[in-house]
Parts: sequence; C-alpha cells; structure tokens
Amino acid sequence: MDGIKLVNVSKIYTVEKESIKVLNEINLNIPANKITVILGRSGCGKTTLLRLVSGLEEFDQGEILGYNSKKTAYVFQEDRLMPWLDVKSNVTFGIHNKKVDHSRVDEIIETVGLKKFYSAYPSQLSGGMKQRVSIARAFAYDPDLIMMDEPFSALDYFTREQMQKELLKIHNRLKCSILFVTHSIDEALILGDKIVVLEKGIIKSQYKIDEKSSTRDLLDDKFVNLKKQIIDDLKVI
Ligand SMILES: Nc1ncnc2c1ncn2[C@@H]1O[C@H](COP(=O)(O)OP(=O)(O)OP(=O)(O)O)[C@@H](O)[C@H]1O
Ligand SMILES: [Mg+2]
Repeated sequence: MDGIKLVNVSKIYTVEKESIKVLNEINLNIPANKITVILGRSGCGKTTLLRLVSGLEEFDQGEILGYNSKKTAYVFQEDRLMPWLDVKSNVTFGIHNKKVDHSRVDEIIETVGLKKFYSAYPSQLSGGMKQRVSIARAFAYDPDLIMMDEPFSALDYFTREQMQKELLKIHNRLKCSILFVTHSIDEALILGDKIVVLEKGIIKSQYKIDEKSSTRDLLDDKFVNLKKQIIDDLKVI
C-alpha cells in the first residue's frame, strides 16, 4: 500500500456566522505501514484532521492523495462496543459473516491478551480490556489504515503503558498504517515512527524516529532532548 499525502489542506468551520480556519494549509505525508502520531493541545484540530483523512468530513481547500480505495478502521477514546455481543462477536462486528477468517480473528484476540475472555460481555471487562477489544476489532477488519483518536487517554498510567506495548506488538505482526492522536509527548515518543506537532491548525514541526519502538529508552539523551524540543514547540510551561 502507498502512503497518503495531504497537500495544502484547509478546513473552515463556521459557528454563529464566524468562520474559523481549524486546519490551515496542512502538508503532510502519512507513510504506509508506519505509525504517524499527531500531537497537540486540546482544540488544535487533531480530530478534525483524522476526520478529513478518513473522508468523514469534507475539506475546503487542497487535496488528499492516495486515500481512494483504502480500508479504514477507527478506534476512539471510549470503547464503543456492543453491550449485547460477546468479545468474539464484537471483534468480528462489521465483517460479513461469510468473510470472517476465524483463525486470524482468534490469533488477534490472543495477541491482545483476551483469549480467556473470548465469550465475555463488555460489562464483564475492565476499561483496558474493552479498549483491547476495540483494537482487536480494528485489526480484524484487515484495514490499510487505522485512525486512533486518543485511544488510551482514559486509562491509568500502567494500563496505558501496557496497551502501548500491545499495540506495537500487534502492529509489528499485522502491519498497516496508523494515524494516532494523543496529547501525551511520552506516548508519541514510544509509538511514533513519525511525530507531527500540531498547533492551532498549523503543523509546527515534524520528527522522524528511525529507532525501532521495541528498543526505545525515553531516558536516553536522544529522547530527552527530543522531548525538550517538542515541549518547546508546544510552548508548554
Ligand atoms: N463540527 C464542528 N463545528 C464547528 N466547530 C468545530 C466542529 N468540530 C470541531 N470544531 C472546532 O474545531 C477546533 C478543533 O477541534 P478538534 O476536535 O479537531 O480538536 P482536537 O485537537 O481534537 O481537540 P481535543 O484534544 O480536545 O480532542 C475546535 O476549536 C472546535 O471547536
Ligand atoms: Mg479530539
């Protein structure tokens, strides 16, 4: 699969006759099979960017190349599971019955650590487990691109760390492009092959990280310096 390219993409929202340019001439390459992290403060336009790339929202200017014919899955901050379906049925929800590859789905459920909870219902699962089901569902759909909009922000610190590791593991195994939105600089440094810092609808900076995510040490000088640089970009005091 090829990547996706945004060329001079702008989005304007009009609220009470006032027009606000929420995204302003965005130029961005989203490389195939990599994790691209969109990092920025609340309200800077992260969700809007995901919605434009996935075609849920029209843009006002520019073009998005390479999106046509891509299969896209979405993972949200909240799990959005069907309470009346068990884990397996939630994971296969959205795939036509005849097209379900059961051995692949079982492998995905195992990879996210839910083998024992195969027949459990969402009410029997913790927040982290529900989010695992959402991630399994996204991968089971066999997408080219997964949009993840702050999928771990409702989880506690340790569960969040564990989920990041699991996401990297499953991505490593099943490869697809991921566009991952977060507020957390550490999360961006752990997951991103590419980090895009968004500030008030403008791309403030972009960083490419070549080091494999499995061997990254955020206390390493290289990452500490990158974190300082990103804090500076975001002007967080
Ligand atoms: N449908 C809409 N109509 C009008 N304005 C909107 C709409 N959706 C978003 N906005 C505005 O666009 C801006 C960016 O919103 P967006 O949801 O993309 O931010 P975000 O970076 O995802 O924020 P958060 O981190 O809080 O989720 C905000 O000022 C928001 O009020
Ligand atoms: Mg958002």
